[in-house]
Amino acid sequence: MGDMQILPGSRHRPPMKKPMWIVVLVSFVIMFLTCAYIYRLKNRTACNMFNTRGCNTIDHWFPPVPAREYTDGEIAAHVVFRDILNSPIVMPENPKIAFMFLTPGSLPFEKLWDNFFQGHEGKFSIYVHASKSKPVHVSRYFVNRDIRSDQVVWGKMSMVDAERRLLANALQDPQNMHFVLLSDSCVPLYNFDYIFDYLMYTNISFVDCFKDPGPVGNGRYSEHMLPEVEIKDFRKGAQWFSMKRQHAVIVMADHIYYSKFQGHCEPGVDGKNCIPDEHYLPTFFTIVDPSGIANWSVTHVDWSEQKWHPKSYRNQDITYELLKNITSIDESVHVTSDEKREVQRWPCLWNGVQKPCYLFARKFTPETEDNADVDFGRILVLIQEL
Ligand SMILES: *[C@@H]1O[C@H](CO)[C@@H](O)[C@H](O)[C@H]1NC(C)=O
Ligand SMILES: *[C@@H]1O[C@H](CO)[C@@H](O)[C@H](O)[C@H]1NC(C)=O
Ligand SMILES: *[C@@H]1O[C@H](CO)[C@@H](O)[C@H](O)[C@H]1NC(C)=O
Repeated sequence: MGDMQILPGSRHRPPMKKPMWIVVLVSFVIMFLTCAYIYRLKNRTACNMFNTRGCNTIDHWFPPVPAREYTDGEIAAHVVFRDILNSPIVMPENPKIAFMFLTPGSLPFEKLWDNFFQGHEGKFSIYVHASKSKPVHVSRYFVNRDIRSDQVVWGKMSMVDAERRLLANALQDPQNMHFVLLSDSCVPLYNFDYIFDYLMYTNISFVDCFKDPGPVGNGRYSEHMLPEVEIKDFRKGAQWFSMKRQHAVIVMADHIYYSKFQGHCEPGVDGKNCIPDEHYLPTFFTIVDPSGIANWSVTHVDWSEQKWHPKSYRNQDITYELLKNITSIDESVHVTSDEKREVQRWPCLWNGVQKPCYLFARKFTPETEDNADVDFGRILVLIQEL
């Protein structure tokens, strides 16, 4: 019945003027779409013409803007990285954690570490990269664990080279499944078993990583790193990482991004201001495996004083309350260095569960060589109380 009413009406519509009207309309639509598309390709100024919501709607009308064409080197590298990351993890019968110490010389807290490792033989291996003087070891676990080392200059590629040297040495042991980088001023915040389980029973690497649009973040980016390193992928993060074996292997395999940082980071030289140990690994993982890293470091450091160096804890600062405070943090916080000082907060999720973020802390300084003994004795007692 309804059909009967509609059909006659459409049949009797006036047929004239139709072609002209359609041609004008179609031309107008084509012109509009072409303009919008060109605007969108050109640094997306379309977003200024329409409001942001309108801009997003328009974005959906078009196929995505094609990614740039990758270079031969990038294609080859990504195939290798993908293959390593996708191969199944074969856990050895006795998996170990490699503790890699990056230090100028002797380790002031070696006795503390000795106590930490005691009774856990077979579940760890130690590597020491001493860049200035040959360390005097007081712990049997550290004797003969020095690797061939070279000079390290803060802010230069030699720092990353030392990290890679430690990884290369530690990777030689097929039982090492997780690799932790520690400094001479680091102390553990928990007993061995807690730290072992925390690192071993997750598939994530704890590499610190955030986007800082400010002067000490993106301000250090150089367009000489193009095309491989784009500013959208440039990241910042603390140097002290821990990573799973597959990630350690791809860091070894990387030449393409490494050479970009090697060639274009030289603090003090105009336009080469990036600090490789703060930018190379976060940027590398953002490009090759962004979801494989936690985006925070398991080593705590206090930058709240906003000085050039982080807060250093002296003997009198090391209290039960301080350690309790550090171990109760379960949110990672990053602050951008631009005038907005935007605070980025994420819960520290371990296999999906919110947990304390930190397993180690720095910077702890023994007052003098002599009372280092007193110092670590106190720290040990405090840790046991936690
Ligand atoms: C880690 O990955 C392995 C192999 O891909 C898987 O068997 C295991 O369940 C994962 N572990 C966690 C904690 O997700
Ligand atoms: C870390 O941040 C990246 C974005 O830069 C994100 O893709 C990734 O999922 C984050 N990792 C975790 C474990 O949430
Ligand atoms: C511990 O945290 C509390 C609360 O944030 C703070 O008031 C106190 O000063 C902290 N103590 C130390 C020793 O850092």
